[in-house]
Formats: sequence, structure tokens, C-alpha cells
Amino acid sequence: MDRPPLILGLESSCDDTAAALLRGREVLSSVVMGQAELHAAFGGVVPEIAARAHAEKLDLAVERALEDAGVTLPQVEAVAVTAGPGLIGGVLSGVMLGKGIAAGLDVPLVGVNHLAGHALTPRLTDDLTYPYLMLLVSGGHCQFLIVRGPQDFSRLGGTIDDAPGEAFDKTARILGLPQPGGPSVEAEAAGGNARRFALPRPLLDRPGCDLSFSGLKTAMLRERDKLVAAQGGLHAQDRADLCAAFQGAVRHVLAEKTRRALALYLEEAPEVPAFAIAGGVAANGAIRSAMESLCAEHGVAFVAPPLRLCTDNAAMIAYAGSELLAAGERHGMDLAARPRWPLDASAAPLVGSGRKGAKA
Ligand code: KG4
Ligand code: ZN
Repeated sequence: MDRPPLILGLESSCDDTAAALLRGREVLSSVVMGQAELHAAFGGVVPEIAARAHAEKLDLAVERALEDAGVTLPQVEAVAVTAGPGLIGGVLSGVMLGKGIAAGLDVPLVGVNHLAGHALTPRLTDDLTYPYLMLLVSGGHCQFLIVRGPQDFSRLGGTIDDAPGEAFDKTARILGLPQPGGPSVEAEAAGGNARRFALPRPLLDRPGCDLSFSGLKTAMLRERDKLVAAQGGLHAQDRADLCAAFQGAVRHVLAEKTRRALALYLEEAPEVPAFAIAGGVAANGAIRSAMESLCAEHGVAFVAPPLRLCTDNAAMIAYAGSELLAAGERHGMDLAARPRWPLDASAAPLVGSGRKGAKA
């Protein structure tokens, strides 16, 4: 059998500048250069700052990825680059570099949808067979997808406003806990009583798999303000109870929507049913165990790829590229950078724009 090609992956759609080298399912190197400190003072990603940093750092990331993998640029046999969706300046930087390298080496170029990169990660890590159900749940994404092939996705639902990670981060901010909010809220929740506060369960009363988290954040703010008005501040136990109530509400909503998504997915009678959860929020023990028991209940395999491959990285782009290349996909020098690029063009567009830029 032929050796799979050595693929260079590039990712620059948000605030991580990343390059990776991949052969088959083997990640030879994966370099991720974050920009958190550049944006920290602004409370969100500033597109112009992000674009400039990508332009400055992309070639450095490639250099390091080559070094880590112990290969040289001329050995690269194909280039896979994120061509959207995302902040256009960053995506453009990656696409330009990808084109330059592919043209210079005279090797195939393939543009990859960033979300497809996330959605195909369980195949890179666990060799899942199509079709599988996927929940992307992070600071920038929240959607249920049935993944049938590298270019064949059905979106069953997604958030109509904030992503859950965003809500965890805002909750932490409201309560004066450190960022990123997810881990601090989870730690506080461990010592809290989830039943002390009755928080809403947004969209649970409506059919389907869409989700909403902005109302939950407003409810948290209201509960905090009530306590501050009544007692002049928050006691440690108030914080813990608020965190427990918040985490409980997110878990409840995610679990119920996952139950619905699983039912839709199982209607297809997949031969090897599997559910994968990816994204920073998948690190949450309470949420994860709720998903695990749901899967066990339905006889569906549960997969959670390691976090370093769930957060933004270029190995997932190289892997998605490898599947596209194997399917005969090639792009020319006219490959366009796309700020918006829904995975499932037939699904209704999601409303709103997240902290991390355009949602798809
Ligand atoms: O996948 P990720 O690293 O990329 C972004 O979309 O940025 O996700 C980061 C998000 C943050 O909002 C963070 O608060 C959340 O994932 N997160 C968690 C936990 N760990 C990270 N949320 C809940 N519980 C956690 N343990
Ligand atoms: Zn992402």
C-alpha cells in the first residue's frame, strides 16, 4: 500500500496561529501559537490585531512544525489550509501562505472548512465510521451535526445566541472568578447546592435541537444583583450555589437536546452508532458524564477526543484535508477566503455573532 502523503495543515481563522504536519492518522507535529495576551485588554478578539499577528507568526509556526516533525519543506506533499469560516484577515493570511507554499513546491492545495476540521477530529483520533453524531461545544461553537462524510454534514441544531463556553466565561466574570470561566465555575460548583436558585432552561419547551444561553447569563446577573442588594455582597457559599445552579442548567439543557439529537441520528440506523463531543466545554465533568450515561442508555459509543485536538489546531485541518484530497478535491490559486461558510448549506442559518467572530 502507498504511504499516505505528508500534509502541511495551516489554521488562522480566529486567535490561534497554527501549523501541523500529518501523515495518515499520525500527527508528526502540531504547533499552536495563541494570541490571548494580545486581546486580553479588549475583552474579546480584535480582528485587526488577530490578522496582523497571524501574518507575523504563520511562517514561524510552519518553521517550528517542520522542525518538530523532523522534516524539511520540500518533503511536504500537500497543503491543507482553513479557508473559512472566521475572521477574514486571519483566514486570508493562511490562504495566501498556503497558496504560496503549494505553488512553490508544486503540490496539491486544498481549502478546508474550519468546522469540518473540528467535526472530523473523532476520525483522526478514534477512527470513527460514518455516520456519527457530533456535538461541538466550546467558547465559539455549539452545534449538533450528523457527520456522513468529509463534505456531508447535517446540522440538527445549534445555539441561537451565545456558545456555552461563552456563558461559562461570562458567569465567571459576573461572580468575580478567574478566566477561563469553565474550569473556575466547575470547581466552585463542586461545593454548591444547585437547587437554591431556579434558573431558566432556555428553549427546552420548544421542539428541536436549537439551544440558547444568553437568557441564562442574564438570569445569573439578576440573582447576583439581588444578593448584592440584600446583603451588600456575595458570600463564598452564594458563589458556589450560583455556579452549581448555572452548571446544572447548562447540563440539563445540553443533555435534553442531546437526547433529541440521538433519537434523530438513530433513526438512520447507523451500523456502528457513535457520539462524539468536542470543544473546551467537553472538559466539564458534570456535562461529560451526563452525555456518557445518555450514550450508554442508547447503546451508542461515546468518544471525546483529547482537548489539545479539540481546541483550535492545524492537525485537524491537515486531517480534514487528507480526506478531501483522498476524495479527489483540489483547489487552485483562485481559492477564496470565506468569512461565512456553513457546513450544512440546507440548514437555516444561525443567528448572531459570537465572541470569537462570525458563527457558521
Ligand atoms: O474549545 P475551546 O478551547 O475554544 C474556544 O472556542 O475558545 O473552548 C474554550 C471554552 C472556554 O469558554 C472555557 O471556559 C470552556 O471552553 N471550558 C469549560 C471547561 N473548560 C474549558 N467550560 C466548562 N467546564 C470546563 N471544565
Ligand atoms: Zn474552532
